[in-house]
Amino acid sequence: MRDIFGEKKLQNLKEKLSQVRNKFLGYPVSKDFDYEELNPFLKLPINNIGDPFEDSTYKVNTHDVERKIIRFFARLLNADLENYWGYVTNGGSESNLFGLYLARELYPNAMFYYSESTHYSVKKNIHLLNVPSITIRTQKNGEIDYKDLENTLKLNRDRPAIILTTFGTTMTEAKDDVSRVRKILKKAAIYDSYIHCDAALAGAYGSFIQPKIPFDFADGADSISISGHKFIGSPIPCGVIITKRSYRERIAKQISYIGSLDTTISGSRNGHSSLFLWHAIKKLGVSGFQSRYHRSLEMAEYCKKELLNRGIYAWSNPGAITIVIPKTSERLKTKWQLATELNNTHIICMPNVTKKQINKFIKDLVEDNTIKPTNTLLNY
Ligand SMILES: Cc1ncc(COP(=O)(O)O)c(C=O)c1O
Repeated sequence: MRDIFGEKKLQNLKEKLSQVRNKFLGYPVSKDFDYEELNPFLKLPINNIGDPFEDSTYKVNTHDVERKIIRFFARLLNADLENYWGYVTNGGSESNLFGLYLARELYPNAMFYYSESTHYSVKKNIHLLNVPSITIRTQKNGEIDYKDLENTLKLNRDRPAIILTTFGTTMTEAKDDVSRVRKILKKAAIYDSYIHCDAALAGAYGSFIQPKIPFDFADGADSISISGHKFIGSPIPCGVIITKRSYRERIAKQISYIGSLDTTISGSRNGHSSLFLWHAIKKLGVSGFQSRYHRSLEMAEYCKKELLNRGIYAWSNPGAITIVIPKTSERLKTKWQLATELNNTHIICMPNVTKKQINKFIKDLVEDNTIKPTNTLLNY
């Protein structure tokens, strides 16, 4: 490797990053990708500025690939193929911002509702949008408390409702049932409503979970966000937002400088990410996504069983690839890069996680001897 930083610094940095990459179990990031074929594109100043479905005067873009990605997800998420739209974002956080922004433009006087387990990006986005919001309680497993949602909505029936559901919460991978939320809205006779579903991790495999947990457009979602660097895997953080084309018209502004519509959060946009995502989609196809999910689920079941066999309380939500255990020691947290919140630590069995890694981690955990045996569901 040519070392432009000097004194082998670039080489050292690469080795250090590769080493730490090999040792994490706590973050939902796939590491088993190979996009070497796309290396020549690093020599091109690709910029997907503007709306991917419109022409632009900046032609060094991958808009055509981006449109194919959006169509792939629209189909996977049961969107109306005559009325879908979206774009490739910088990640789930931006996708959430876009979904909530769109909802606010459609219903400027709405009240926003989100659960206690909602990802921090949503709370920040609500702050950025400067809209009123109410936090709904969560159940012990991290899923929204439907009764609390119903009671809270009843008190605000005079306002449109924008509800943020999560399909795979960050800590426990709990999944809010979108069709149940729709029923609650109907019961409260709130017809001006919008559901944004944050499916950062699980959106890429939600269609394969059996029995299905309602979360997509057929179940009543108005927009859905998915991270690209999580389940699919990408060297650069990225994501998608999928929504309805009819909603887009509400925010579109013609910008003569770029000869396109300004419909996205960022102006200049990463066009390389679209190449990575499309490469993965072409290589795997729907069946490849499905088998990646089944592999992860099997690994998660194996991990849970092995932990329980050793008296360590481990549990997971239905269809989840995340295993929740009691909070580990600081030493293990650092060693395995584990995410911890309140009393819980989690292990996420991404497609690259192997039995060997799980066995090594469990051995470490047992030797560490800091987790006390328990048989109760810890309060989340
Ligand atoms: C539920 C949930 N939503 C949103 C995000 C943010 O996604 P990103 O890191 O792609 O911005 C995460 C990240 O972990 C998440 O767990």
